[in-house]
Amino acid sequence: MTQNLADTPRPLSAVATPAGEPSRWWRDAVIYQVYPRSFADANGDGMGDLPGVRSRLPYLRDLGVDAVWLSPFYASPQADAGYDVADYRAVDPMFGTLLDADALIRDAHELGLRIIVDLVPNHSSDQHEWFQRALREGPGSPLRERYHFRAGKGESGELPPNDWESIFGGPAWTRSTDPDGTPGDWYLHLFAPEQPDFNWDSPAVADEFRSILRFWLDMGVDGFRVDVAHGLVKAPGLPDLGSHDQLKLLGNDVMPFFDQDGVHEIYRAWRRILDEYPGERIAVAEAWTPTVERTANYVRPDELHQAFNFQYLGTAWDAAELRAVIDSSLAAMRPVDAPATWVLSNHDVTRHATRFANPPGGTQIRERGDRELGLRRARAATLLMLALPGSAYLYQGEELGLPDVTDLPDEVRQDPSFFRASGQDGFRDGCRVPIPWSGEAAPYGFGPVEGGPSWLPQPAEWAGLSVEAQTGDPTSTLELYRSALAIRRADPALGAGGELTWLPAPEGVLAFRRDSFLCLVNTTAEAVVFATEGRLLLSSTGQVEPGLLAPDSTSWWAV
Ligand code: GLC
Repeated sequence: MTQNLADTPRPLSAVATPAGEPSRWWRDAVIYQVYPRSFADANGDGMGDLPGVRSRLPYLRDLGVDAVWLSPFYASPQADAGYDVADYRAVDPMFGTLLDADALIRDAHELGLRIIVDLVPNHSSDQHEWFQRALREGPGSPLRERYHFRAGKGESGELPPNDWESIFGGPAWTRSTDPDGTPGDWYLHLFAPEQPDFNWDSPAVADEFRSILRFWLDMGVDGFRVDVAHGLVKAPGLPDLGSHDQLKLLGNDVMPFFDQDGVHEIYRAWRRILDEYPGERIAVAEAWTPTVERTANYVRPDELHQAFNFQYLGTAWDAAELRAVIDSSLAAMRPVDAPATWVLSNHDVTRHATRFANPPGGTQIRERGDRELGLRRARAATLLMLALPGSAYLYQGEELGLPDVTDLPDEVRQDPSFFRASGQDGFRDGCRVPIPWSGEAAPYGFGPVEGGPSWLPQPAEWAGLSVEAQTGDPTSTLELYRSALAIRRADPALGAGGELTWLPAPEGVLAFRRDSFLCLVNTTAEAVVFATEGRLLLSSTGQVEPGLLAPDSTSWWAV
């Protein structure tokens, strides 16, 4: 099944760094997440693809980001939009070929962009060759050791082996059918039934992933985003949790299937592999942990380089709460000497322009809210995020100020959790709607033909939000991002720079300095009188009245 790159010369390595001194590029990198299904569709089938991404790399270079993280494009039946991988070394035909991946990496490097690929080690697709063989060969097959197969409870094994619930709803176990057609053992899947969990106690699993890492590192990728990095190791004996509604406990407690200490040995082994390669290859953990302190465990000096800061993503537009999470994030990373990371949106949560358009209510919002307010706050939140010490993640389309599409009809939805939660949860399709690039009619340049398909429908009002419509308009969100990223790149006080010093400020206002840089944030709905000083660099609202901070605004100053 694995495709072959025969006769393709190997790329030398990552983006060139002068020999000798490591650049530590990742410590303040701005990393842009591309969701390949929805970024750009070169062949007009309505689904984004790698040639599409490749054609838009100059846009990303001009935007001013340092690296691009690509969500999975591997061979997959797409039960969870590609996070169900059937072959870790092949590109799904819907996205292109390995040659397209190779060309994409090369072009990116020529433009000075780094490429980070998604690695999905917690589970495979149920169509993965190992899982298929495990089913075919029946009980006793050595392939079953690579997953979690268990006998059921009850008189005839009709009950799941323990009480764990799937993150996508329903039990985390599905009963398999033996080769003779009778009901057999159950297998564990923390996500959809099409995503069986690997058993990381199996040496074959650990070997396989070390080899997959090398495969992509040899192709020249600059790093990995590690999916469900907190889930690989399960507590011995797979003990019951003893409570229902386990989703509510996620992120608050160490669970028998999440954030087990055993995961760290795996990352130490991976770090040794990453360090063997030239060009400072990195890995970033998607780790849902109860506290920022436990997140820091993933980025100890001999483990991964970064971890997403979901505590920051989940923080409301509120000065005191923001200050608290900024302080605790910086403090948690200091002892392990890892950069803090900051993120406002990704492919799993409601876009921040829509979250901030609504009263605080978590990361899955169904209401459209007050669009104007949401966008004003989103622009201010972005300038705050880009002013903080460390590395920042952007999600495709946020630079256009895109809102979530909250009114997708049920029949076009594809998020597996929507169906498993009987339509009560799983609204992730709303942030996955294809990007508007140009033109007056859908798919707005996402695909090559006007009136052509897109796998999720785009709202009519998106013509005005396209890259084309915003380019050159100094009041647009796209130009705000371009300016912010250019200033961040040029100003040594920003990025990794020094830490920040809080200045006294009235309630609802954040003021901090980083050397000669000053950031002022007003999270309230009222203008606030505040002595502004120095030279204005950028403002989320466009203009600034001296001595006054506009409602829901951020401004950057040189002092
Ligand atoms: C991660 C991904 C998410 C996916 C899940 C299962 O959380 O970000 O999209 O559904 O893992 O692979």
